[in-house]
Amino acid sequence: MRHLLSVADLDATAATALLDTSDRLRQALLGREVRKLPTLRGRTVITMFYENSTRTRVSFEIAGKWMSADTVNVSASGSSVSKGESLRDTALTLSSMGADCVIVRHPASGAAHRLAGWMDRGQDVTGTHTSIVNAGDGTHEHPTQALLDAATLRERLGGIAGRRIGIVGDVLHSRVARSNVLLLATLGAEVVLVAPPTLLPVGVDQWPCRVSHELDAELPALDAVMMLRVQAERMHGGFFPSAREYAVGYGLSETRAALLPDDAPVLHPGPMVRGMEIAPAVADGTSSAVLAQVRNGVHVRMAVLYHLLAGAPE
Ligand code: CP
Repeated sequence: MRHLLSVADLDATAATALLDTSDRLRQALLGREVRKLPTLRGRTVITMFYENSTRTRVSFEIAGKWMSADTVNVSASGSSVSKGESLRDTALTLSSMGADCVIVRHPASGAAHRLAGWMDRGQDVTGTHTSIVNAGDGTHEHPTQALLDAATLRERLGGIAGRRIGIVGDVLHSRVARSNVLLLATLGAEVVLVAPPTLLPVGVDQWPCRVSHELDAELPALDAVMMLRVQAERMHGGFFPSAREYAVGYGLSETRAALLPDDAPVLHPGPMVRGMEIAPAVADGTSSAVLAQVRNGVHVRMAVLYHLLAGAPE
C-alpha cells in the first residue's frame, strides 16, 4: 500500500488485513504501563490539517508516537499556508524535509488524490517517498473513520458480513457516510441509508446500499445504527429541513433508540450535536459505542501507518 486515499482502494482482503493488524496492535498494548512499540523508529509522520479536528488529528499523532515515529503537526493557520502558499508547495516542502507520511485533511474533495500525484511525481526532486493518508477531503471520503467504524462493529457484533447497518442523517455532506457505505458493502454488510430527500446526494442510487426516509420503520431490523453529524458548515444555502424538523424526523431520541434490537450498538463519528442528532441519554447509554470508536481510532491508525511505512505484517 503506497497511499490510503479512498476505501475504494481496499478490497475485502486488504481491509480485513488492516483490521486484523489493528486488533493485534491493541492486544500488544493491552495492560502495558508504557504504550510504546519500536516499529516506526526513525520514521517521520506529519499531520497537515486545513480543517479543524480533534479525534483524527490527535489519534494519528498518538498512533505515530506509540509506534516511536517522530510526529509533527502542521495547521493551516500556523504555517505559511496563511501567507498564501499552495497545497502543492507546502506538501513538497514537507517531503523535502524527509516526511515519510503526510496525513492531510482538506475542505476540497479530491485534495488528497492531487497531493498523492504531486508526491509521486516529485519524489526524484524531494528525495523522499512520501505516503499520503486522506484524513477527510471535503464531502468525498474519510477512509480511516470507516475503518475504525468497521473495527468497532466487528468488536460489538463479532463480524460484519450479513449484518444490516443503518446510516442516518446528513448523507449529502458526509464523507463518513460515503466511506462507510463502500467499506461495509465490501465487507459483506447490507447497508441502509436513512435520510430526508434534501440531504441525499445526486447519484446515491448507484451506491451499494438501499435508501429509506423512514427511520422508525428501519430501526427494529438493524443490527447497528450509525448516526451522522449534520455538517452545518457545508450548508451554504441554509439548513433544510430545520434543526427542529431534523430532530423530529431523524434524531435518535430515547423513544426511537428503544425500537432497536437490545444488543444493537449505536455509533456516531463525532463531534455530536446532542439533542438534534442524538439524545444525550442515548449517546451516554449502554448501547453507545462512541468512545469505543474513539479508542479503536488509535489502533486502526496505528495499523494504517504500519502497513504504509513498515509493510503489511506476516
Ligand atoms: N470523526 C472525526 O473525523 O472527528 P474530528 O473532526 O474531530 O477529527
